Amino acid sequence: MKSVAKKNWTTPNLTTLLTQTDRIMSGGNGWHADPSLILPSGVYRGRVHVGVDLGTAYTVLMVLDENYQPIAGEYQFAQVTRDGLVVDFIGAVDLLREMKSKVEKKLGFTLTSAATAYPPGVPEAERRATANVLHGASLDCTGFIDEPTAANNVLKIRDGAIVDVGGGTTGIAIFRDGEVMYTADEATGGTSFSLVIAGSTGKTFEEAEAMKKNPNEQTRLFPVVRPVMEKVASIINRHVKGHQVDKLYLVGGTCAFVGMDEVIQEMTGIETVLPSNPLFVTPLGIAMNG
Ligand SMILES: Nc1ncnc2c1ncn2[C@@H]1O[C@H](COP(=O)(O)OP(=O)(O)OP(=O)(O)O)[C@@H](O)[C@H]1O
Ligand SMILES: [Mg+2]
Repeated sequence: MKSVAKKNWTTPNLTTLLTQTDRIMSGGNGWHADPSLILPSGVYRGRVHVGVDLGTAYTVLMVLDENYQPIAGEYQFAQVTRDGLVVDFIGAVDLLREMKSKVEKKLGFTLTSAATAYPPGVPEAERRATANVLHGASLDCTGFIDEPTAANNVLKIRDGAIVDVGGGTTGIAIFRDGEVMYTADEATGGTSFSLVIAGSTGKTFEEAEAMKKNPNEQTRLFPVVRPVMEKVASIINRHVKGHQVDKLYLVGGTCAFVGMDEVIQEMTGIETVLPSNPLFVTPLGIAMNG
């Protein structure tokens, strides 16, 4: 196994964009709109780009301004999809309606359309269900791409692999000259982390979820979740085999666990980079497509 020195992500614009996105998604301010696009009433009158990510763990609604800067959003833990399939259609529509109405209240205008995305490998009929959730929430579906392509709207890589470790699955997309060459999506994600934490601490799943996301607990929990990180690495190894992949780009909420990038790099022998906050990369890329 090759050993590779850990490198930090070095794109300052990306870091700024993701920090800004984090601030907006956690209800904070920080958006400075172009004054020519603000009506005397204070309402933004420019164009917006809207994205909906119906993830296994989080449903995310994100709104960007004309210049693709985040201006408002909502995210909520909800189990309305599993492995890319909508398993609770009514629940998903109700949740999205509720989130849309909260965001509209913040913005002062109605959202009429949005883009969404599906994990690689999801059959056509199932993808349609995702788009239908948007229609159910009175949003025209104006953009529909696969998740790694969405993530690459943000990362803009030409060569390498994007690895999206979400709640339920690990998605992999190999890029060559900016084009997707190969994609895969396999079960194993943050839910598995929470399950092993619950198992070893005797806590409920919800308590384990909260502990896992607490940065003060992550060092103590690292040995407990390391085997799951290694499983993610073995999935990556299996899929990159036979392809020339010199760099892995980690996205998805699970990659925020401290030390995840190091385990992946160690077990794959491939240089692994992690953006400042990997959680909203895919939803941001979906909104960019809206
Ligand atoms: N700071 C954190 N540290 C560790 N895990 C985290 C952190 N923040 C979020 N997570 C985990 O990330 C997962 C959610 O990530 P994400 O939103 O990318 O997944 P998703 O899109 O809902 O799921 P999928 O892509 O599998 O459909 C959850 O399992 C959540 O517990
Ligand atoms: Mg996801």
